[in-house]
Amino acid sequence: MPAPKLGNKSTSASHVKPVVVRTIAELRQITGAWRKAGEAIALIPTMGALHEGHLALVREGQRLACRTVVSIFVNPTQFAPHEDFSRYPRDEAGDVAKLATVACDLVWAPDASTMYPPGSATRVHPKGAAIGLETDFRPHFFEGVATVCCKLFTQVGPDFAIFGEKDYQQLQVVTQMARDLDLPLTVIGLPTIREPDGLAMSSRNRYLSAEDRATAVTIPRVIADVKAAIAARADLTAAVAKAKQTLSTAGFRVDYVEVRDATTLLPYEGATTQVPRVLVAAWLGKTRLIDNA
Ligand code: PAF
Repeated sequence: MPAPKLGNKSTSASHVKPVVVRTIAELRQITGAWRKAGEAIALIPTMGALHEGHLALVREGQRLACRTVVSIFVNPTQFAPHEDFSRYPRDEAGDVAKLATVACDLVWAPDASTMYPPGSATRVHPKGAAIGLETDFRPHFFEGVATVCCKLFTQVGPDFAIFGEKDYQQLQVVTQMARDLDLPLTVIGLPTIREPDGLAMSSRNRYLSAEDRATAVTIPRVIADVKAAIAARADLTAAVAKAKQTLSTAGFRVDYVEVRDATTLLPYEGATTQVPRVLVAAWLGKTRLIDNA
């Protein structure tokens, strides 16, 4: 079998719109032809409302593979009834225009009844990296994410699936799922893309008022403070307590500030074999922000 053709497409001058596909049959016809031609495929799963962070993932897809597919699907199974599913920002035309600037080949945009046809009942229940952190506050979340990612991987058949590290626990959960279920693809995480003041780019940032947007930058600042405390081998419990206090004083309702092992997400014990990751989730009004470094 010849080696798959990897990516080298130039993205600088391309404004050709990607084809938008809504049925599994059409998707398989196109991706099947690519595979037959030996062209490697990179998938960037998204819920739309694309920003520069997503476009950076597409550019990495271009580098790794001949073909890039961006899925746009606001996945109902990862939202609890009280969460922001109905108000989650949707702008498919704007997203497709942005993807044209990075030479994305295909947008996979199924509707909910294609993803979850009537009678659909099978779900992926991740454990391991899914235990704690987000799950303590959004117990439904990773079942929805793992199930939809498993389906997206099966539908598209990518060689690579690319995620941002902003959703760090999600990246670890999907990586573990792909490993545990022997899914034939490589999951790749890319560093978080940030605004000039340090705020992590996120589709949910557009919910923030001007005042909350100015306050939001407190999150990366407290993460930097905790990382500095780790580097200085200072009292970690005190550093985390101070970070929580700083966030509360700025007007946040804090879900968690935690220092975890970067790979297992088990508590960080300060062992030289462990790489620490500082993870934060906090609310500003009705907007929940997460970040890590
Ligand atoms: O990170 C997201 O946008 C979503 O959780 C994902 C991975 C596309 C699954 O719906």
